[in-house]
Amino acid sequence: MILVTGGAGFIGSNFVLDWLAQCDEPVVNLDKLTYAGNLENLASLQGDARHLFVQGDLGDRALVDRLLAENRPRAVLHFAAESHVDRSIHGPEDFIQTNIVGTFRLLEAVRAHWSALPADEKAAFRFLHVSTDEVYGTLSQEAPAFAETHPYEPNSPYSASKAASDHLVRAWHHTYGLPVLTTNCSNNYGPYHFPEKLIPLMIVNALAGKPLPVYGDGLQVRDWLYVQDHCSAIRRVLEAGRLGETYNVGGWNEKPNIEIVHTVCALLDELRPKADGSSYKAQITHVQDRPGHDRRYAIDARKIERELGWKPAETFDTGIRKTVQWYLAHPEWVQHVQSGSYRDWVSRQYGADA
Ligand code: NAD
Ligand code: DAU
Repeated sequence: MILVTGGAGFIGSNFVLDWLAQCDEPVVNLDKLTYAGNLENLASLQGDARHLFVQGDLGDRALVDRLLAENRPRAVLHFAAESHVDRSIHGPEDFIQTNIVGTFRLLEAVRAHWSALPADEKAAFRFLHVSTDEVYGTLSQEAPAFAETHPYEPNSPYSASKAASDHLVRAWHHTYGLPVLTTNCSNNYGPYHFPEKLIPLMIVNALAGKPLPVYGDGLQVRDWLYVQDHCSAIRRVLEAGRLGETYNVGGWNEKPNIEIVHTVCALLDELRPKADGSSYKAQITHVQDRPGHDRRYAIDARKIERELGWKPAETFDTGIRKTVQWYLAHPEWVQHVQSGSYRDWVSRQYGADA
């Protein structure tokens, strides 16, 4: 059995679905269900005994101690975080609490559990920390992509909090010998992506006839990875990663934001043409830039390919088409997220006592 934190969020829920589609090893899923946690993502697992969902905070030491003692997972995969850069600029407190203090408490609970395991279970145990390329800061246009040796230079409250959590994980390995692995991944996209982030926001705003807000000149560059490729990279690192190592994960897909928005519009023009024949591109509006906006991220993913044989399966063309098609096929999911009614899912689905 494995224990996942944040498994009702975008990447975590894709990971849990993918994991249980590929094997029968049960998953304990600890998630606080913040605004970003959505149990509708996991609706297909209802009644599946391999999935045990627990609503709670990863910083709740008594709860985490109990979950570890009762379930004896062979690995903890730590996805839970406050993840949105713009929210971190408006209110950094939750980012410090969950990403730093929460990770610290989780590490301490896991250390206590791991220390007391019999030798064979102790040797097999893993703590996998899911992190981001944003810890490395920003790149000029001509600079080489981020390798694992790149200095940490986080620029936003979000990336600073993730950098701090990476350092804690590293220190718990060096000081206490905790068997950790860290992945630093680029921008994900795909199904169940909360529409506060660029790609899903553009899709749902376009369909609703709303403006498509591009920050500044729209020439900021990100490297985009289809979420299922991130999930396969995490599985591979869990399986064969070297203890204490970090692995950069990316899609070899550097693109300026404005090109992403144009691609989304072109796909919608093809798949859901507007009645008046105009393009969704007409809805693009340039708005004020994000404060401290990182200009470019790029991932050098050669280490994970060389050591673990991992490569992304999707190209951007195939991944973005699947993504747009998924949003077009799931208007109810979008509507529940937009209306906020997804937050009533637990009581609607499982009754008032759930
Ligand atoms: P998300 O915001 O969609 O989901 C986060 C999940 O964590 C939610 O389900 C939320 O309810 C849960 N959570 C938040 N605080 C919690 C707490 N205190 N206790 C328990 N659960 C809590 O995030 P995501 O985009 O799925 O990102 C998952 C992880 O991957 C994060 O650690 C993020 O830093 C990292 N990451 C994300 C991307 C990306 O492009 N989205 C890229 C690289 C790395
Ligand atoms: O690089 C990995 C990171 O990618 C993850 O660690 C974060 O959790 C994840 O949120 C994401 O961060 P970004 O800030 O890169 O993602 P976001 O979708 O918020 O923005 C992508 C780019 O698009 C960024 O340059 C800002 C821009 N943008 C975003 C929004 C929401 C816009 O131009 N307009 C928008 O409305």
